[in-house]
Amino acid sequence: MKSDQAAIMASLRRHLAPFVERAYAPYSQKKQAVILQLSDGSWVAGSRVENASYSLVIPAAINAFSTAVAMGRKDVVAMVASDPIEREDMLYLERAMGVSVSLICEDVLLLGTARQLLKPTEPLIPYYPVNIQRREDGLRSAGFAAQQALIPESYFPVGCVVLSKDGYMWPGCNVESSDWQRVICAERNALGTAITYGFKNWSVMYLSCPKDPSGTPCGACRQVMIEFAPDMELVMDRGLETPFVIKVRDLLPFSFTGDTLKSEGTSF
Ligand code: THU
Repeated sequence: MKSDQAAIMASLRRHLAPFVERAYAPYSQKKQAVILQLSDGSWVAGSRVENASYSLVIPAAINAFSTAVAMGRKDVVAMVASDPIEREDMLYLERAMGVSVSLICEDVLLLGTARQLLKPTEPLIPYYPVNIQRREDGLRSAGFAAQQALIPESYFPVGCVVLSKDGYMWPGCNVESSDWQRVICAERNALGTAITYGFKNWSVMYLSCPKDPSGTPCGACRQVMIEFAPDMELVMDRGLETPFVIKVRDLLPFSFTGDTLKSEGTSF
């Protein structure tokens, strides 16, 4: 391997380290993260985000890819992972991008025609400072997020934005795969981004389902949301009607909590 490639790899692994730390893995202790490199050398990260119900885990690669898609970017050229890359993640990226992937070492892969890692440029920042006062403005942003949905399976776009108490906003949209078990909803996409990028004080999620003005979060998203943000307010677009507003905890009463599953001393 050429020395510049070794230096690039080392630099991407250094960028990866804080995202491994942010992984939420109180059930398995498998703190994992990946960085996806985009065609201009920029990059985006995704951390592993577990959930008490185990099967709703957001794997790091799906978390990173869905964050990129919500930012309007699908031009992934490489992935650097904190752990040896598993076959499932290779297949996921192959299906999502419609190209083949090649491992250049156990924790780095290239996609499609990419022959080498690019020198990393600025990271993609998947959140913005905002000052949203009116519900219409939050819902309009959720509608814009829905326009980024990757929906070759359902043609059913969903978008959301989450606001933090300190004035940041991050988007989520649904990102589909021909492997339906790897489809991620808009809400979980946004939550995965928040955890990866270190946001904890979430105040409100605006949600837009342009093809179904009576849409509400699916059970899987409710389960994941309640673990991280039971007090978050959800504001759902109802088209010409008044938005429907409810707290996450009221959407999923008597929910399953992982309290007795977690290792001691871990909390969100
Ligand atoms: N979907 C969401 O994004 N959020 C929900 O709460 C319900 C469902 C997505 C998943 C899939 O891409 C499509 O809508 C059809 O279920």
